[in-house]
Amino acid sequence: GGMTTYRLAVIPGDGIGTEVTPAALSVLAAATAGTDLQFTIEEFDWSCRRYLDRGAMMPEDGLDRLGQFDAILLGAVGAPDVPDHVSLWGLLIPIRRAFEQYVNLRPVRLFDGVTSPLRPELARDVDLVIVRENTEGEYSRVGGRLYEGFATEVAMQESVFTRTGVTRVVDYAFELASRRGRGLTSATKSNGIVHTMPFWDQIVAERAELHEVDWRSEHIDALCAKLVMNPAAFDVIVGSNLFGDILSDLTAAVVGSIGIAPSANLNPEGTFPSMFEPVHGSAPDIAGRAIANPIGAIWSTAMMVDHLGHPEVAERIMTGVATSLATPATRTPDLSGTGDTRGVTEAVVAGLG
Ligand code: NAI
Ligand code: MG
Repeated sequence: GGMTTYRLAVIPGDGIGTEVTPAALSVLAAATAGTDLQFTIEEFDWSCRRYLDRGAMMPEDGLDRLGQFDAILLGAVGAPDVPDHVSLWGLLIPIRRAFEQYVNLRPVRLFDGVTSPLRPELARDVDLVIVRENTEGEYSRVGGRLYEGFATEVAMQESVFTRTGVTRVVDYAFELASRRGRGLTSATKSNGIVHTMPFWDQIVAERAELHEVDWRSEHIDALCAKLVMNPAAFDVIVGSNLFGDILSDLTAAVVGSIGIAPSANLNPEGTFPSMFEPVHGSAPDIAGRAIANPIGAIWSTAMMVDHLGHPEVAERIMTGVATSLATPATRTPDLSGTGDTRGVTEAVVAGLG
């Protein structure tokens, strides 16, 4: 058969983003070598470095240029001398919104060789996915401040929940739950947040009628407690932008390291490119020391290949990931290993299924 070629936009970003991204690309190259799958790569220097040099995280036509690609791989952005809202609102959020990447998908799994801060018997069987709404909700710029600096100062921030926005992410979560088979949990807080959360709950209940999936609603506070006390009981969890953000970090911590956590920003219809990135940031505290854990970026790359329709290649990458994690010499120091970024990457390549 002929070659299938994908155009991949790569944005390494800042700090360890520039260390883990090449690692992920070398795993991608090894996993696709000898297959009829091929990636042509274009790299962009969009970052806080660029912001400091030229006043913007990306060029004005940045989104138009990215729109030409089949997928986007991002390392991390952020620098100590640039306010975090600049990197977030100057690059990540415009990409997520312009390309209607309304699903933020974060799988969470405990691997052999990774120690959970929970008792082993509680964490052993954790295998869940957070489906976070990624384009609206609590992360809005609607609102403002009045009387700044005075005793009467006021700050107001509005949440934006639309029927279209909630329905599409909830449907995605129900479909995923129906494939995975262990049920859906919806995060809410309709006892305290009395307009948007009952609206969310109502749409979840409506969409549930269309899917054969066991589901329940949990208030976000109780859900956080249950995820610490019994995380293995959960499979697919769907939440608003804010709740999904919090649940993602909580569940990543439950399985041991931010350094391995992957994420996908999906435009499920494929109208626009989807973006794949590790959950972690630019980690200025360890940048430049060649010890950054590349697994979050590598796993994100496996999610990309899976999203593009090649689950068998994604599986091979994940076999390599599991192999490298199982041995201290091929784990980075954040997982009490003695390896470095390059050694871990080589171990993943050597262990490809
Ligand atoms: P961070 O994720 O960069 O680091 C938190 C801690 O985890 C640090 O101690 C770091 O050394 C460690 N860590 C993170 N990734 C690691 C890896 N791959 N291997 C080993 N250790 C790892 O979060 P932090 O420190 O809050 O933020 C640093 C910068 O990154 C900020 O400017 C922030 O805005 C940005 N950031 C960017 C994100 C993105 O690009 N999507 C996401 C989160 C933060
Ligand atoms: Mg977060």
